[in-house]
Amino acid sequence: MRVLVTGGAGYIGSHTAKELSNQGMEPVVYDNLIHGHREACKWGPFIQGELHDLERLRECLREHKIEAVIHFAAYAYVGESMKDPGKYFWNNVEGSLSLIRAMRQESVNLMVFSSSCATYGIPESVPISEAEIQKPINPYGETKLIVERALHWYAQASPLKYAALRYFNAAGADKSGEIGEDHTPETHLIPLAIEAVLGKRDPLKIFGTDYPTRDGTAERDYIHVEDLARAHVSALHHLANGNDSFCCNLGTGNGSTVREVLDELEKIAGKPVPADPAPRREGDPPSLVADPSLAEKLLGWKAENNLSDILQDAYRWHTK
Ligand SMILES: NC(=O)c1ccc[n+]([C@@H]2O[C@H](COP(=O)([O-])OP(=O)(O)OC[C@H]3O[C@@H](n4cnc5c(N)ncnc54)[C@H](O)[C@@H]3O)[C@@H](O)[C@H]2O)c1
Repeated sequence: MRVLVTGGAGYIGSHTAKELSNQGMEPVVYDNLIHGHREACKWGPFIQGELHDLERLRECLREHKIEAVIHFAAYAYVGESMKDPGKYFWNNVEGSLSLIRAMRQESVNLMVFSSSCATYGIPESVPISEAEIQKPINPYGETKLIVERALHWYAQASPLKYAALRYFNAAGADKSGEIGEDHTPETHLIPLAIEAVLGKRDPLKIFGTDYPTRDGTAERDYIHVEDLARAHVSALHHLANGNDSFCCNLGTGNGSTVREVLDELEKIAGKPVPADPAPRREGDPPSLVADPSLAEKLLGWKAENNLSDILQDAYRWHTK
């Protein structure tokens, strides 16, 4: 199967392109490189292009005889989305609608979409199942929910089939060390903590030490990027085999607090992670942990890596 990977020069997209190739599929990366890395595109053709460029997208779908799309391309900084919501609606919503339009016009009918646990906002109950009401608390999460809803209605009215995968916290790196996480600016805990322990940045700020969790710090569900990549390929197979469109969580079902992440990292690095307590950030829920059982039921997929695997792979990549 020839698969267009939008955002395939980015973190999760590049790992998924590699997994597609490992499983005998042909990834074609489409990325404007605003946040991506050309050198992370090694598993098939690379096209530098913009989601809003309908004609270029159509040409690319035609020329490469694309049969399915995995759509990662988006902006993903929650804080920035609060300050400049228009930037997020323009890129994440209008860009996705342009892509869906191109797919409809070229009769490409399968899409796997990067959604997010940010669509749940502050959940009523944890672990979070797909039955949880989606009520985002920032424009970033809202853009992901709008695209999910658009896909729902397109799928009612056309042959389009989709999988919306709601990831929890992507982390870790390719086990062979070829690619890893390299966001600019970086806002994710694990790369920030690794850079702090390697002396490459100031001490880490622990936002909130008075949450109602085991040790007072916020709890998240960290999922290895290779497990995420496998889930995308499974979702594609599931749709290609004629099954219905679906939305599901991708997480491990196990939460780790900030303190637990730092303690585990200290064991790997062999030294303490410089870190200072700081006030809570507005809109940060105490705990976000997935109930991943639907993904297992539908796709036969389960995360294989735990927090220690994630940290070892991320640390190896950062020290390399
Ligand atoms: N990283 C996480 O923990 C996480 C969690 C939940 C959901 N997601 C979603 O997963 C997807 C991938 O996340 P990531 O961490 O790999 O991000 P990333 O920034 O590393 O990758 C996104 C890629 O999309 C490209 N891009 C952005 N806008 C584009 C446009 N208009 N046209 C063409 N290319 C464009 C960027 O250049 C970049 O290479 C995003 O949609 C994000 O919202 C990520």
